[in-house]
Amino acid sequence: MTNEIVLTGIKPTGKVHLGNYIAAIKPALQIAKESDCIALFFIADYHALTFIQNRDEFNELSYGIAATWLALGLDPDRVIFYRQSDVPEIFELNWILSCLTPKGLMNRAHAYKAIIDHNQQLGLDTDTGVNMGLFTYPILMTADILLFQSDKVPVGKDQIQYVEIARDIADGFNRSYGDTFKLPNYVVDENTYVIPGLDGRKMSKSYKNTIPLFESADSLKKLINKIKTDSIPPNEPKDPDTSNVFLLYKEFANPSQIQELRENYQKGISWGEAKQELFRVMNDYLEEPRKRYNELMASPEIIDSILLEGAKKARALAAPLLENVKTKIGRYKSL
Ligand code: ADP
Ligand code: TRP
Repeated sequence: MTNEIVLTGIKPTGKVHLGNYIAAIKPALQIAKESDCIALFFIADYHALTFIQNRDEFNELSYGIAATWLALGLDPDRVIFYRQSDVPEIFELNWILSCLTPKGLMNRAHAYKAIIDHNQQLGLDTDTGVNMGLFTYPILMTADILLFQSDKVPVGKDQIQYVEIARDIADGFNRSYGDTFKLPNYVVDENTYVIPGLDGRKMSKSYKNTIPLFESADSLKKLINKIKTDSIPPNEPKDPDTSNVFLLYKEFANPSQIQELRENYQKGISWGEAKQELFRVMNDYLEEPRKRYNELMASPEIIDSILLEGAKKARALAAPLLENVKTKIGRYKSL
């Protein structure tokens, strides 16, 4: 039996925060470590270009995401780790697939529809703020996925529709030209839950309520102190299971620490002390990766060489399929 191909893309549109780490990065690293799949993780930088059109920001965020994954333990010998823009085959397939994709399929994509609805509510022109990259975003994502004959695509719930679009496009091609693409499946981790931000809403860069993963110790402490809590006074018992501080603590502490804090909640620990405890375990946990992250960010040539090595492997893997596709569409005379 051949190894399963597991592929996922990471869009560099903001500083990585705790929600991204707990719900997306940690489980993906776990999959790569534990299973004998062929894992491909990539920086979807050209997807980010649909939003980030400031040169320095684009550059900083792309390197930042790469450094984050590496600092958290991504092993480039086990995972094919590359930058989307280093693999031109993706963009060639993107064009071929664009020509075979009905426009109506894009009209129905959630993210595009949400913008349209928003514009209409404001009485603006329907397509205000929509660039063509944003409109055809799902086709590029389809090319990312299909080019490697991916079996499994781990994504957040909001991305399920895109993987379904990839299946539709693959199926359409296969019907027209004969069996070519594998139909990918999304994998959504049902155990992950929404990580609350400082204000109690979903932690998200859109709400500006995040705790970025690699803040300095000082600023991490300040942010933790800002986590919203209720007004139960010190010395009164508190319910750990409804506490955002405890919820984050569970992600970073070991079982005996978790048990101890649970008991201390019942004994009436103050919010200030609980936050201090959260800071202590989180800072311990993140200290080493933060150091590695800062070192990598100071040496972008190391990141480049890892990503280029990954791109080489990815291109070698992709080339035969792209040739096959070009043959199928009639690009070559003799075949
Ligand atoms: P943001 O909401 O900050 O813009 P993204 O949409 O870039 O984050 O999310 C990247 C990944 O992180 C996705 O898989 C998403 O499901 C996950 N994610 C982001 N925020 C949270 C959160 N607060 N709780 C759980 N998962 C999250
Ligand atoms: N669209 C994904 C996101 O917003 C990123 C992404 C791009 C992706 N290409 C992909 C995810 C291919 C999985 C597979 O997070």
